[in-house]
Amino acid sequence: MKEELIRKFEELYGEGGDIRAYFAPGRVNLIGEHTDYNGGHVFPCALTLGTYVIARKRDDRRLRMFSQNFSHLGIAESSLDELYYHRKFGWTNYPKGVIWTFHEKGYAVTNGFDLLLYGNIPNGSGLSSSASVEVAVAVMLKDIYGFDMSMKDIALFCQYSENKFNGVNCGIMDQFSIAMGKKDSAIFLDTSNLDYEYAPLDMKGYKIVIASSNKKRGLGDSKYNERRDQCDDSLAELKSVLDISTLGELTVEAFEKTKEIITDPVRVRRVRHAVTENQRTVQAVKALKAGDLKQFGQLMNESHISLRDDYEVTGPELDTLVEAAWEQKGVIGSRMTGAGFGGCTVSIVEESCVEEFIRQVGAIYLKKIGYSADFYVVDIGDGARRI
Ligand code: GLA
Repeated sequence: MKEELIRKFEELYGEGGDIRAYFAPGRVNLIGEHTDYNGGHVFPCALTLGTYVIARKRDDRRLRMFSQNFSHLGIAESSLDELYYHRKFGWTNYPKGVIWTFHEKGYAVTNGFDLLLYGNIPNGSGLSSSASVEVAVAVMLKDIYGFDMSMKDIALFCQYSENKFNGVNCGIMDQFSIAMGKKDSAIFLDTSNLDYEYAPLDMKGYKIVIASSNKKRGLGDSKYNERRDQCDDSLAELKSVLDISTLGELTVEAFEKTKEIITDPVRVRRVRHAVTENQRTVQAVKALKAGDLKQFGQLMNESHISLRDDYEVTGPELDTLVEAAWEQKGVIGSRMTGAGFGGCTVSIVEESCVEEFIRQVGAIYLKKIGYSADFYVVDIGDGARRI
């Protein structure tokens, strides 16, 4: 893959100079959804699918960028003096946002670069293709400009870029797991303080199967920011009677005792999800450590129900995929993953049942929704790096 992309790079921009290659994975979250902006826990892992970046530093301030995924758009030309967001800049808003963030944080990028990008994460599928682009570009900038920063800094800078440049108020989960991922492990992350622990995923004859609903979701135009605001408004109300700084600090009991303070019944359900999902995530990691995959799967199922009924971010496509998965032989657990409103589901399936699972769930989905889902049997890989 790397050699092929370098050849393409040379075709586009010419040979010679110091051409370097980078990779940043996509991510799948196993449990802990919509908890990361509420100071709760998440449990994502990095995939072996992801984004490749080939780059070469320039002597001037020009930026030339080409995506193999949008090759019909040709080379997008701009410069370090034009770092502002505009819809018409399409995917190049992500690299531009990262450069802009580096400037904001005191890491001045003084020379432009030529860049070729290729991603094999399905676009807009909820496997974090955008965060993957951001982190790949950040790792490239750190390397070719020799900046001194940690992978944690990179995750935080990329989140800042997504929030402030691209206008999506996301939490830290995606950028963190992409920057910090580890082969065959999931990351148990406490988003209130960024303490984390790698939990080895010993899958003992089981596979992680991702089903893409092929219902596209743009986080920016979705209800994501609205959910976040609903949580913030509820937290403000709860603070009048509780000494807490995030919803992640609430136990289920404390929530039940104080929920009347929240003035809107819809927001009561939003908070119930945030609180119970955080507790489920902690329990799920305990179950996994104890080798109890069945309990882990049960908690995944409960997570989906909570996202469906209390947080209302699933919709008919994701519900159809998950409900069909629950009926199949050899399924330990299944839930939506990522922001929701379209995107993907994640299921843990006994290896010998995977083929039948894909056939059956695929057929049910096509019949009910009217178009096909795509399935990926995925491996857990390492975080972003030079390759
Ligand atoms: C998106 C965001 C994350 C997280 C998830 C939901 O992926 O980027 O920060 O909030 O949705 O868990």
